[in-house]
Amino acid sequence: MSKEVKSVEYGLEKIFEGAQDFLPLLGTDYVEFYVGNAKQAAHFYKTAFGFQSHAYAGLETGMTDRVSYVLKQDKIRLVLTTALNSSSPIGEHVKKHGDGVKVIALWVEDAKKSWEETTNRGAKSYQEPITTSDENGEVVTAGIYTYGETVHMFVERKNYKGQFLPGYEKWESDYNPTPIGLKYIDHMVGNVGWGEMNTWVKWYEDVMGFVNFLSFDDKQIHTEYSALMSKVMSNGNGRIKFPINEPAEGKKRSQIEEYLDFYEGPGAQHIAVATDDIIETVKQLRARGIEFLSAPPQAYYDEIPGRLGVHMDIMKEDLKVLQSLAIMIDADEEGYLLQIFTKPVEDRPTLFFEIIQRMGAKGFGAGNFKALFESIEREQEKRGTL
Ligand code: FE2
Repeated sequence: MSKEVKSVEYGLEKIFEGAQDFLPLLGTDYVEFYVGNAKQAAHFYKTAFGFQSHAYAGLETGMTDRVSYVLKQDKIRLVLTTALNSSSPIGEHVKKHGDGVKVIALWVEDAKKSWEETTNRGAKSYQEPITTSDENGEVVTAGIYTYGETVHMFVERKNYKGQFLPGYEKWESDYNPTPIGLKYIDHMVGNVGWGEMNTWVKWYEDVMGFVNFLSFDDKQIHTEYSALMSKVMSNGNGRIKFPINEPAEGKKRSQIEEYLDFYEGPGAQHIAVATDDIIETVKQLRARGIEFLSAPPQAYYDEIPGRLGVHMDIMKEDLKVLQSLAIMIDADEEGYLLQIFTKPVEDRPTLFFEIIQRMGAKGFGAGNFKALFESIEREQEKRGTL
């Protein structure tokens, strides 16, 4: 583990020493996917993940080149966008990458200042600050590029009372599957190319004022066959966490390499969403057709009491039930966490979801990496991409 930044308590929030405050972030505002068919993707996220219809923009609302469906569950907003013609850059994005994350939007107090501070520090601009308005007030947005073709938009909505953004209408639907307990985005992981991890770590430090608070090298993250390296970047208040992965040499092809081959470049690898009741959430997801990576072997679960130590006494969940759902368990000094990973949610083996329940632990399941990656390798084997 390299540079680890000490954290200090400020009320309920952790402020990381060394993080800079030129870019105060209030949270994740939304995540926008560019997809081949937003209408059908929206149906999938409603049905399988329990998202609720929230807002819509398209021909009916005066949008001529695209259609966007906004879905909501507790604090999470997903936007699913498709081009309405062949000359759209949205279509080009889908052609190159398949369905994937285009925008990781960040909620800020001052979008113009956020854009100025980051572009002055070397960020490539995606969109200069623009103010849009409707009868509900005004919103300021601006954007910068991060890895690959992925974008961070800054969204300032303190003077807006509308449903989502100007141009969007409330989306009322007769089809409203129940939510499944997804609460907020815990972290979002980016995959970057060979030897590029430290470049992007430095970019998040210099341009965004983030700090690197956890690092894992290929000696820690490897199986018999493949390896990767990862560094976790966090903003000052700890609300935004972006681990960055790069592939590492192994006997066979790393899952990160497989991603880069199929996404045709760097991009968002997984979105981790938090729940307070992972057993119920995963039962629901399984019942609604979501496929997860296969369960770790019996030996993994046999070792859990030893690995958890004192946390085993406070664990409320039944180990047998967790095992039956293939949920994994890890612990650090502060507590334990429960997590599980879906298979990729598109045809290309690219983006997937993590469901996570934190019971005090602040880590990312390092103790599960080996079991997790062996499970991913079993899938790669089936795809012929290991
Ligand atoms: Fe994760």
